Amino acid sequence: MKALIEQTRTAIEDFPILDANSLEAFRIQFIGSKGSIKQLFGELKSVPNEDKRAVGQMLNDLRQLAENKFNDVKEQLEQGGSQDSSIDVTRPGENFVLGSRHPLSIVRSEIISIFERIGYTVSEGPEIEDDWHNFSALNFPAEHPARDMQDTFFIEKGEREMALRTHTSSVQVRVMENSKPPIRTISPGRVYRNEAISARAHCFFHQIEGLYIDKNVSFADLKQTLDYFAKSLFGEKARIRLRPSYFPFTEPSAEVDVSCTICNSKGCNVCKYTGWLEILGCGMVDPNVLAASGIDPEVYTGFAFGMGVERIAQLKFKVNDLRLYSENDIRFLNQFKGVNN
Ligand code: DAH
Repeated sequence: MKALIEQTRTAIEDFPILDANSLEAFRIQFIGSKGSIKQLFGELKSVPNEDKRAVGQMLNDLRQLAENKFNDVKEQLEQGGSQDSSIDVTRPGENFVLGSRHPLSIVRSEIISIFERIGYTVSEGPEIEDDWHNFSALNFPAEHPARDMQDTFFIEKGEREMALRTHTSSVQVRVMENSKPPIRTISPGRVYRNEAISARAHCFFHQIEGLYIDKNVSFADLKQTLDYFAKSLFGEKARIRLRPSYFPFTEPSAEVDVSCTICNSKGCNVCKYTGWLEILGCGMVDPNVLAASGIDPEVYTGFAFGMGVERIAQLKFKVNDLRLYSENDIRFLNQFKGVNN
């Protein structure tokens, strides 16, 4: 019995308590109602009478030892201390290494939230697209040069010839085929073109397409929407101008410039001393496109627009080389830390 008590004493003294968990383990092992001290007390009755007093005293001392250790360490832990001298609790903690959002994600979310505020939904479509959705339904004539091998990556998918979509206008068609007006939606996504990679061109980039179809939608609605968009994105001082243009899927069509926010339209090398920066293409959806997607052009009209996300990010963040967006250079990406909108 005495040997057992000595053993337990050494075990109590050597038990390492580093944290709240090991403190609790200590309590259960020695002090708790099923702990070893309780058990030893239980065995007191089998100790010969003449030894009972001395052994009882030893057991009391043992319990005191365990309780003192428990209370001391508990107090230390509560004050933030530790029993393990190899842990320096005064050392400052290490910060988590925070990443940054990619500039294209930042700009995409900002554009989405601008349009969500005026009731636009977000819709997406496949990157591997068929000829119908990428070209034919959008009123591209069969011999249109944009279908050329030069611009489009064609791929074989089973029996069918498919293409990597060259623009997000393909999602317009899918939305019109699958829903009834009124339609108000934007479609962000990646697009592909067979271009040599340089500072100004890439074989893949990102667009955001917009589409609004309802009764009595007019060109004035389009202009107002784009004015709201430009002011939300570039600030209240931003102005827009529309230049007549051509797209197979809109009639009339326009290209939209925003006043140069870098030089305040005074002229700089970014706006090439014109005071204007081109940001998107737009127009009234061609009646042929509405009809091809199952919407009656006699009842409904609508407008569409499409913009490049890289281009907008370039203007917002003054990025001068398109390749930076996809090279994963940490020195580039780190500059967007804390930019969260
Ligand atoms: N799809 C055109 C492009 O890739 C952009 C565009 C222009 C989209 C006019 C439109 C639009 O919806 O109306 O360059």
